[in-house]
Amino acid sequence: MTRLSGITPSGHVHLGNHLGALRRWATGGGPEDLYFISDLHAMTLPYRPERLRALTRENLAVLLASGITADSVFVQSDLAGELGALNWVLECTCGFGEAARMIQFKEKGAGQDSARLGLLTYPVLMAADILLQGATEVPVGVDQNQHVELARTLARRFNGGRGEVFVVPRAVVPKTAASVRDLSDPARKMAKSAQQQAGVVFVLDEPDVVRRKFRRAVTDDRASVRYDPDEQPAVANLLEILAACTGGSPYAATSAASTYAQLKDTVAEAVVELLRPVREGARELLDDPAELDRVREKGAARAAERARPRLDAAMRVAGLR
Ligand code: TYM
Repeated sequence: MTRLSGITPSGHVHLGNHLGALRRWATGGGPEDLYFISDLHAMTLPYRPERLRALTRENLAVLLASGITADSVFVQSDLAGELGALNWVLECTCGFGEAARMIQFKEKGAGQDSARLGLLTYPVLMAADILLQGATEVPVGVDQNQHVELARTLARRFNGGRGEVFVVPRAVVPKTAASVRDLSDPARKMAKSAQQQAGVVFVLDEPDVVRRKFRRAVTDDRASVRYDPDEQPAVANLLEILAACTGGSPYAATSAASTYAQLKDTVAEAVVELLRPVREGARELLDDPAELDRVREKGAARAAERARPRLDAAMRVAGLR
């Protein structure tokens, strides 16, 4: 089994990323697993190069501090050559309509003439990330499910009876916290790109900032701590976060508090404790740029070496070389 997944450094890592993805990447894996910072994907919306460089470094430090081993991380653009080649092969395997139907493209770019072409082909590059490394499992939050589905479709289509050039991967989504909601608006998922960041808890936020964000979280006027995602989405989100931190179910988490104020305090403390080692570890790593550079270099060499045979096979099957 090879697990592979990535995170886009378009902003600071938040609690949704941590609970829905990073925390799971750090457990139960094997020596073949790969996790990366998808900096190429951060170019699909307007961005500043210096900020991208800094966020790539910061995201890498957070990954390592989350417990993901240095032997399984790399930065996507360090494989830009291999990925670029496979990306083209896969773009020529994917229909325009197929790409245009992806929810993220529809949300962020459809209908806008100025939307970058990369925003449309973003899921194809994701497929290249996954298929290049022969990943069997892709642990992601629910928002990436559709993209992994496209990777499956493209792998099957390309293989097309020619043997297993590409492994057909499957998405693995967690039972709780697969889609953590914004604390100030449960209709939105917690996202790096949120305009208002009051409802987004960042992994590197100081404890007092985390507490303040939870204290200001919206609830509802029912004054009843129940797990009912349809009727009480904001409270359900708090219970899901608590359950994800403490390991129980969101239903069981209702017994932790009888008022909303208590619930918010309890969730805030659980989150502060969960994130403490990550925040402290990441800060230490960020003070040691040479170590981060070493990890990055080794990761790039390992990932490129692993990618080469599969890229060669795909090029041959495609009638190239
Ligand atoms: P990204 O950076 O948006 O998110 C990284 C991971 O965090 C999960 N996630 C969430 N989980 C729960 N609640 C939330 N509110 C929440 N927000 C984000 C995401 O599902 C994801 O697992 N395109 C990808 C990165 C990528 C990738 C890949 C992933 C590039 N290539 C290949 C898998 C395989 C992205 O931008 O994730």
